[in-house]
Amino acid sequence: MMQEILTVLGIETSCDETAAAVVRLADGHCTVLSDRIASQTEEHAAYGGVVPEIAARAHVERLDGLISAALEDAGVDWDDLSGVAATAGPGLIGGVMVGLSMAKGICLARGLPLIAVNHLEGHALSARLSGEVSFPFLLLLVSGGHCQFIAVNGLGEYERLGTTIDDAVGEAFDKTAKLLGLPGPGGPAVENDARRGDASAVALPRPLLDRDDLDMSFSGLKTAVRRAAEAAPLTPERRADICASFQQAVTDVLGVKAARAMAIFARDRAGPMTLVVAGGVAANQTLRARLEAEAVRAGFSFMAPPMRWCTDNAAMIALAGAERLRIGRIDPLTIAARPRWPLDMRSAPAFGGGRKGAKA
Ligand code: KG4
Ligand code: ZN
Repeated sequence: MMQEILTVLGIETSCDETAAAVVRLADGHCTVLSDRIASQTEEHAAYGGVVPEIAARAHVERLDGLISAALEDAGVDWDDLSGVAATAGPGLIGGVMVGLSMAKGICLARGLPLIAVNHLEGHALSARLSGEVSFPFLLLLVSGGHCQFIAVNGLGEYERLGTTIDDAVGEAFDKTAKLLGLPGPGGPAVENDARRGDASAVALPRPLLDRDDLDMSFSGLKTAVRRAAEAAPLTPERRADICASFQQAVTDVLGVKAARAMAIFARDRAGPMTLVVAGGVAANQTLRARLEAEAVRAGFSFMAPPMRWCTDNAAMIALAGAERLRIGRIDPLTIAARPRWPLDMRSAPAFGGGRKGAKA
């Protein structure tokens, strides 16, 4: 049988990272040939959060240079590409449009197939960039916009088992950092400060642990952090204690819910079981360690992408595109960018329904 080799350019512009990467998929085995990323942390620093208009402009300014660099790093030419994959949502719509339009332009000029990738599918498959993770697996997706347990039954086959009913867990890290006067992005800043703190110093709630399901909530935790920050002078020691206590509360909630999710996942399935954690918050060491321990206890293998593929990147988008291309799931050039796009389209929205569709 002829070996099938696919070389795909991936483009990611859904938030504040502009990224381009080239991935090669040969007989199901993935090699990342190049992986370029330009962060916009400085552009947004003065505003205490990502400003959509500034993000979209920065993507426009950088994307073509990053794509050229990614092709050059990979040692491939336009003619070597089998297709172009771009994030088509969910995300900040201006930025998504920049990346998707660029991909469409390349496809039109070069006669290449377009693959419009769901950013969350990119995260879902990110562990496959560096290791063998076969379907089905249980995914905990923890990012700036999401916190969900998903049964990944196959490519494009996602079943949501539980979700946050309010804030995403990354959002809670970012808001905690902002409340405490730490610089963005919040997750790494809180994790860093937490290293010097006492995780039992500040009593914080463990929301929804009393509920016997997989739903989660983080907005009450944020309020509790605000109260703790106002209750006593915010010395560096106090701040570190709040960070450590907050990180511990999040870790406890996700640890307990992950154990429950593994029990539910295993109940309906046979064969080897794997828990995958992905998304920006999966970079958190305390959380990773706890999830790994829970997985071992439950008889699951544990997989987390290397740190650089936890947060937003284009390699995961290129891989999702290559896997789709392999089975012929390409998209028309008329496809539109989508601000909201849940992975599991069958589950009822947990919150944020309405004209633009479900948030989660
Ligand atoms: O997946 P991602 O890069 O972008 C989205 O698709 O949302 O996730 C970004 C989120 C941010 O909220 C960021 O604060 C959080 O991931 N994050 C972390 C860490 N690194 C990034 N949260 C906790 N600990 C970290 N080390
Ligand atoms: Zn992301």
